Amino acid sequence: MNREELQEQLEYYKALGHQVPKMKYIKTPEQIEGIREAGRINSAVLDYVSERIKAGISTQDIDDWVAECTARHNAICAPLNYQGYPKHVCVSVNDVVCHGIPSKKKILKEGDIVNVDCTTIYNGYYGDASRMFIIGQTKPEYERLVRVTKQCLDIGLEAVKPWGFLGDVGYAIEQHASRNGFKVVRDYGGHGCGIEFHEDPMVLHYGKKGKGCLIVPGMTFTIEPMINMKKSGVRISALDGWTAYTKDGLPSAQWEYTIAVFEDHVEILSK
Ligand code: MF3
Ligand code: CO
Ligand code: CO
Repeated sequence: MNREELQEQLEYYKALGHQVPKMKYIKTPEQIEGIREAGRINSAVLDYVSERIKAGISTQDIDDWVAECTARHNAICAPLNYQGYPKHVCVSVNDVVCHGIPSKKKILKEGDIVNVDCTTIYNGYYGDASRMFIIGQTKPEYERLVRVTKQCLDIGLEAVKPWGFLGDVGYAIEQHASRNGFKVVRDYGGHGCGIEFHEDPMVLHYGKKGKGCLIVPGMTFTIEPMINMKKSGVRISALDGWTAYTKDGLPSAQWEYTIAVFEDHVEILSK
């Protein structure tokens, strides 16, 4: 399908009352290749972190590794100065849901569950992914949270179909979380990603089948479920305006991919 035919299809769905993506966010093959390269570097930076993360290091050490490794690839850390964010990466430990700010004072210890969320800019294109790390041994219940959250991401990915709907994805994720007794965080979502850091549409991790934005070949977006143990509520630190904590103080987990949708398949661009 060429861009003109695509435009026509979008008009058709819009007339039926569906949300459709903006044409400027339907990427060309050249743009997808650029986002793929950014995603490859982003994944390599996360690999670099995974080889080093252990008990006794500070979350500032992770920030240093991400800055150094990204620079070595001639790339840029997107978080730094993004809407005033002060560091190169987000590191969210235990009851931090997301946007944890690295600090020399925050030392990782045995039993911690840690999300490291990296976003890389290369040649003007963006890749965004995050992984969980378990420091040594943790409680079985925390391990299960980390494992089920990864399954939520992979089940969400499976639900991505060209000419399907983002509601199908959110529905699949929430089903899996709730079947396992966990709660989906509703205050944050995935997002279009590739030519900007956060593009339309928002990708909710809950929803209704057949609802939400149409999924169109050429879209690139993240899926990044945040899953809480008992309650979905989140509060943002009044001290730094960024750090999001669970209201109940229980741990939270998150995994993130950037993906691209094609007419006949879906590709992970960064993981
Ligand atoms: N990487 C996060 C995401 O997945 C966004 C972090 S914004 C920052 O969307 F400013 F905190 F870096
Ligand atoms: Co993201
Ligand atoms: Co991210």
